[in-house]
Amino acid sequence: MALFKKIVGKLKKVCKYRGMKHISRGKWEKNLKKKTICLGKFFQAMQNVGGGISLRDMTFIPGGSLVLDYLLLKEIMVKYGLQNYLEIGTFIGESISCMEEVSKKRISITLPPDAPELLNYFDTMETGNYANKLVSDDVIQYFADSKKFDFSKIKERIDLYFIDGDHSYEGVYTDTKKVFNHKSKDSFVVWHDFKFSDMSIRREVVQAVVDAIGLEQFKRVYCCDNNMCGIYVPDKYRKDFNKLCHYNPDILYTYNLKLEIHE
Ligand SMILES: C[S@@+](CC[C@H](N)C(=O)[O-])C[C@H]1O[C@@H](n2cnc3c(N)ncnc32)[C@H](O)[C@@H]1O
Repeated sequence: MALFKKIVGKLKKVCKYRGMKHISRGKWEKNLKKKTICLGKFFQAMQNVGGGISLRDMTFIPGGSLVLDYLLLKEIMVKYGLQNYLEIGTFIGESISCMEEVSKKRISITLPPDAPELLNYFDTMETGNYANKLVSDDVIQYFADSKKFDFSKIKERIDLYFIDGDHSYEGVYTDTKKVFNHKSKDSFVVWHDFKFSDMSIRREVVQAVVDAIGLEQFKRVYCCDNNMCGIYVPDKYRKDFNKLCHYNPDILYTYNLKLEIHE
């Protein structure tokens, strides 16, 4: 017992040193399991709701998001009749281009295409620099480090924020703080990389969110069974999402896809 206490004490010190508040991980992780949305059920319920179920301009280049991440963002916009979308972290522009037909205004805060991180990335991939290639002219773009960005420049009310920039603890913590200071009561917030691609929880990211918004607000956060997103759901929509967390594990959901290739 004494040894156990000593280890916990050391862990707390390490967390403090790394700028992390010590919160019982078991608690939020267990709760998050109970708040896992069945995406098959979510998309099935959406099938009859106006036109947002297709995607275009997918590149499948590593660094973007999954098909079911993009569809989730799109469907939230359609289902709740949302208008304004803001994302932190744009890369090639897949996520922001997906939102074109379902939003009124799209805003992006991202590092400039010639940022060393991006140049190195495309160099390693041995491709051209595709940063921002899919971003159309009507997108309002701020080329900046989101950690230093002044959100008061954005006067629009944002209905859906997508946080997908710097995925370090500090990056997610700061972006989340800034977004929660800027958002309205009924805004959705979606974080990418809440899970790894094998669907295990990405603790550093989730811990940063818990620390930024506190456990009380975290009660409104859900994750999904088959994509990498975490979602903050405003109170007025929570009833819909709670229903999607109770599903029959014996049901296997499948999707039909159609392939068209463009260059
Ligand atoms: C994972 S990619 C975004 C993918 C995109 N949202 C999608 O789904 O198609 C991350 C992007 O965040 C940008 N980024 C990384 N750190 C950032 C920071 N501190 N501020 C703004 N953008 C950042 C990178 O330049 C990169 O383009």
